[in-house]
Amino acid sequence: MSDIEKLRAELKALGAEYAKIKTLPPEDRGKFGRELNAKKQQLLSRIAHAEAEAESANVAPIDISAPCAINSPLPRLLHGTKHPLMVELDHVVAIYSDMGFDVMESCQLDDEFHMFDSLNFPQAHPARDGYDTFRTTENFIPPAHTSTMQHRALKKYQHKLTSGGQIAVGIPGRVFRNEDADATHEHTFYQCEGVLVSEDANMGQLFGVLKRFFELYYGQKLNIKTQPGYFPFTEPSAEFLIEKPASLGGKGWLEMGGCGMIHPNVLKMAGIDPQQYHGFAWGGGIDRLAMLKYGLSDVRYFESGKLDFLEEF
Ligand code: DAH
Repeated sequence: MSDIEKLRAELKALGAEYAKIKTLPPEDRGKFGRELNAKKQQLLSRIAHAEAEAESANVAPIDISAPCAINSPLPRLLHGTKHPLMVELDHVVAIYSDMGFDVMESCQLDDEFHMFDSLNFPQAHPARDGYDTFRTTENFIPPAHTSTMQHRALKKYQHKLTSGGQIAVGIPGRVFRNEDADATHEHTFYQCEGVLVSEDANMGQLFGVLKRFFELYYGQKLNIKTQPGYFPFTEPSAEFLIEKPASLGGKGWLEMGGCGMIHPNVLKMAGIDPQQYHGFAWGGGIDRLAMLKYGLSDVRYFESGKLDFLEEF
């Protein structure tokens, strides 16, 4: 007889005991009944325990030495890959590195000084409103452009000037704007900033760097052109456009970002003498580059987390 069977037999015998209650004198019946109930509860719980143990003993043990089916299909989510924007960002960084630029990553939470003051935005100037800037309740700023890093880059690499070299930095980063999203606007996107300072930096070199960058990125010969622009941190300022890449039909011009000669005040604030050194800077969106490369019509796909979209890359 197994343990469980013994316990069940005990329970059955106990059931017969209940019949005795009515044969007892009334004053003894209560005590006798309570003792029977307590015994019954105890037996029931021992039986439940024994049954649970027997059940788990019936589960076949796992054979940890068995070969594992490495080729069985994994659930869809486990096929992780790099996000397409990160792939493009790596590509952009690799091009700047190959061209001899140092690389710095931008801050995702910044302050009034780096967003505006260090970039020569006058106090209370309307240009400060042009950037649809978010603010935290503590007055921190999720940067609206990667230009917030210019001051830091100029300070960090200043020693290169004093040792006879030049400052050349590429700064990719995530930026945020408080504006309504549509097919060509997102509240969160990526930019890359470029900063170059030397004794003889000039606009000609700036356009040469831009042309070279776009040709390497799209892997084809491309023309670029500029049109006048306004940014408080550059003088003169320009917007740059590229010829539509062949993959997109190759007709027309596309606006890709802003650029210019770094304003003397920006150099001065970072401790660089604008009489001795000159610099140029530029910045443009990485989402934009990728959209053109892949012929995408809606920038919102990038932040959507849609697997159908991501799996195409
Ligand atoms: N930060 C500007 C924007 O997002 C683009 C830009 C313009 C960057 C001129 C620069 C520059 O470095 O010199 O609109």
